[in-house]
Amino acid sequence: MKNKYKYFFKRLLYYLYGEKFFKRLNYDWSKQPSRTEIIQNIINLKKYSKYLEVGCDKNENFSKIMIEYKVGVDPLKGGTVRKTSDEFFKSNNEKFDLIFLDGLHTYEQTLKDIDNAIQIIEDEGIILVHDCLPKKIWNQIVPRIYGHWNGDVWKAIVHSRTYDYVDTYTCTADHGIGVIFKRKNKDLLRLDNLDFKNYKFADYYTFHEKYMNPISYNKLFEIL
Ligand SMILES: C[S@@+](CC[C@H](N)C(=O)[O-])C[C@H]1O[C@@H](n2cnc3c(N)ncnc32)[C@H](O)[C@@H]1O
Repeated sequence: MKNKYKYFFKRLLYYLYGEKFFKRLNYDWSKQPSRTEIIQNIINLKKYSKYLEVGCDKNENFSKIMIEYKVGVDPLKGGTVRKTSDEFFKSNNEKFDLIFLDGLHTYEQTLKDIDNAIQIIEDEGIILVHDCLPKKIWNQIVPRIYGHWNGDVWKAIVHSRTYDYVDTYTCTADHGIGVIFKRKNKDLLRLDNLDFKNYKFADYYTFHEKYMNPISYNKLFEIL
């Protein structure tokens, strides 16, 4: 209840002083497979054996993933390693087939996690990033001022779309799942403005296809 009032007050301030763009994207996540189904189906299809999850919380996803070997990193709860992602990547020397990034949902941290994950993903592996498709402006404001919080993870996906050494998409399921393959970018995003942190929700909405490279669940399984 306390949080509700705190968020309401912060939203009021944002409404007065922040970006004013209130159009919404109408994704319906209830009609799409969950992150757990997607991860498990990729593991089964590709016969992967090594899974890393960054940000595990209550192990809602982590505990359900069936695979030979799995590591879960979280500084607070869940998983198998009690560290921040930065601490983990600094000391880790293992490689993984599938890495699911779902830790701190800010552009800066997600980009660091993506860059670090690229270093330790197997050549035929896949990096997935949760919460890439906020439906409305409130979902993506940092710090959090609304119930469902995607954070500005979407900006890290736009940034990753400008890398020529990885191929980045966003699967339109479960709040948006970034999909990063370790191969040459098939549709390199060229942008003049590289100040991704200051990109606006209006840009994300207007240039949605170009920035996020969205693909359906079925399409994802065609390109795997
Ligand atoms: C959205 S929850 C993860 C949910 C989980 N992956 C799932 O699918 O159910 C985010 C988690 O990230 C953790 N976290 C926050 N900062 C982190 C960091 N710097 N490195 C790793 N995990 C972090 C939080 O403790 C929290 O448990």
